[in-house]
Amino acid sequence: MRYPEETIEEVRTANDIVDVISGYVRLAKKGSSHFGLCPFHNEKSPSFSVSQSKQMYYCFGCGAGGNVITFVMEYENFTFVEAVKHLADRAGIVLPELEYSREEQKKADKKAAILELNKLAANYFYSQLQTKNGARARQYFLDRQLTEKTMKHFGLGYANIYQDDLYQYLKKKGYKDELLHESGLVGYHEKHGMQDKFWNRVMFPIMDVNNHVIGFGGRVMGDGEPKYLNSRETPVFDKSRNLYGLNFARTARESCLLICEGYMDVIAMHQAGFTNAVASLGTAFTQGHAQLIKRYAKEVILVYDSDAAGTKAILRALPILREAGITARVLRMGPHKDPDEFIKNEGAEAFQKRIDEAENSFLFEIQVLEQEYQMNDPESRSRFYKEVAAKLLRFREELERETYLETVAKRYRIEPKQLRSLVTSVSLSLSGETQKIQPKSGVRKKEKPPNGALHPQKLLLTWLVEETQLFEKIKPYIRLEDFTEPFYHTVAEMLYEQWEQKELNPARIISRFQDEEQQRQAASLFNTSIREVTTKEEKEKAISETVYKVKENSIKNRSARLEPTDLTGMQKVLEDKKELQKLRNLHIFLD
Ligand code: CTP
Ligand code: MN
Repeated sequence: MRYPEETIEEVRTANDIVDVISGYVRLAKKGSSHFGLCPFHNEKSPSFSVSQSKQMYYCFGCGAGGNVITFVMEYENFTFVEAVKHLADRAGIVLPELEYSREEQKKADKKAAILELNKLAANYFYSQLQTKNGARARQYFLDRQLTEKTMKHFGLGYANIYQDDLYQYLKKKGYKDELLHESGLVGYHEKHGMQDKFWNRVMFPIMDVNNHVIGFGGRVMGDGEPKYLNSRETPVFDKSRNLYGLNFARTARESCLLICEGYMDVIAMHQAGFTNAVASLGTAFTQGHAQLIKRYAKEVILVYDSDAAGTKAILRALPILREAGITARVLRMGPHKDPDEFIKNEGAEAFQKRIDEAENSFLFEIQVLEQEYQMNDPESRSRFYKEVAAKLLRFREELERETYLETVAKRYRIEPKQLRSLVTSVSLSLSGETQKIQPKSGVRKKEKPPNGALHPQKLLLTWLVEETQLFEKIKPYIRLEDFTEPFYHTVAEMLYEQWEQKELNPARIISRFQDEEQQRQAASLFNTSIREVTTKEEKEKAISETVYKVKENSIKNRSARLEPTDLTGMQKVLEDKKELQKLRNLHIFLD
């Protein structure tokens, strides 16, 4: 399902990017670009640039980038289609109806119907809370120190003691048993027939980021098993891809999210002013959660229960977060059990203090590790240090590794020198390139090329957009196949096609990808930071070098993949290598 490319282009070109972004970010013109503070990461000096001529934006700090559609997707957390609709509205363009396949239509209809049911149920539970019968439930919340305002904000409710009243209520509205069953609100009982899933519980509606009710949690008032009952997975409810409270937390626009375990924890934190709290709802933290978080925050603080189970859950979540590129810190609540109890006992100010003191995830891991060793037994202690050294190797950047090394050395009473040599020896004993310690890099680079061999390809794509005369000039040397990375290749192909049709338009290429991550990647290809060059000669030299490197990598790449029996291929590589020798002295002249 998607709009025709022409329609997308019409919408995109009707919304000037500087105009649209100015509505969100204060921009100042500097040279040919507009600059401002990046809305996607925290910064004090502007590295967010918007180009009117290219109709693209790019942040040199965090790498966010794209065209006007990408911006609205990222800023408003819209899907591609939602962003196009929004921009069409803004420009007064009437969009054609989207065409669904029959299958898609059926699926979409069912989802919409279940969401509608959930909304009705949430309203029903909420209204029950206000009735005389609901007094007990309201008292339960009040006893847990929730205000009326908080109950309303989170849409808290009450499922009364009758076991089929919700079923009757929805049935009267004309809903069929099959759909009611599929929504998870109603179950089939052999003896009693259709029955409400939730009764005699206080109710927590679970919302997605667009404020749709996708499921429920129900808690017994007092003791009883199970303490919480949750909706089962349905076409609209996937626990591993939703976080409780994110619909509110995302609007807090904090660069950091607080992640906890429970409904009451989220609610208590929001009530105390920590509106950036979300919960994974008793399920283990998943990659789906991490991806979701990444759309809204760069950093998280884990506020899991302070028991052994909480610690275990933290240790399991940390690698998933690390993998997703999210920085994590760990907040400990001791002597209290969870955020709800902490805030109840110590108040918001004390909680803020714990947030400020939250330990970096690496140091937390080391702290947990220490407990497995007897630190006053020399042999055990030295095994601990070795383990620490191995973990330090995770930091590829010398500077970062050194910082942690110093901190750990100080904290666990070992000479930095000693720990350093342990790191080296562990590194040497590990085979495989990936674990090897990196040589001293001197200064820490701000923007590290993702991969040395691929960087020239990115550079070349940026140069092509900047200096369109280059297409003609590099034609004798560079072919599409020289863009070896598949994604770069796809983008290069589109760019060449536009050039041949004399319609060079990189911003248009971006919206041919519907996935935000791909749009961002495509934008980064057209916005590689080009080394500061002032004279024409310098520029020509830089371009010529880039062309050489792209070619060199392409040949290397091909010869590495050659079958030993492929004689023609081998011949070709040899010829290419000879050509490459000539390219060594290549100088591309600009007009
Ligand atoms: N949970 C669940 N089913 C249970 C127990 C817990 O789904 N039988 C989930 C709930 O989302 C709960 C979270 O795990 O909020 C954390 O559980 P726990 O720490 O036991 O409860 P609390 O959040 O502290 O709940 P309360 O304060 O209401 O006792
Ligand atoms: Mn609790």
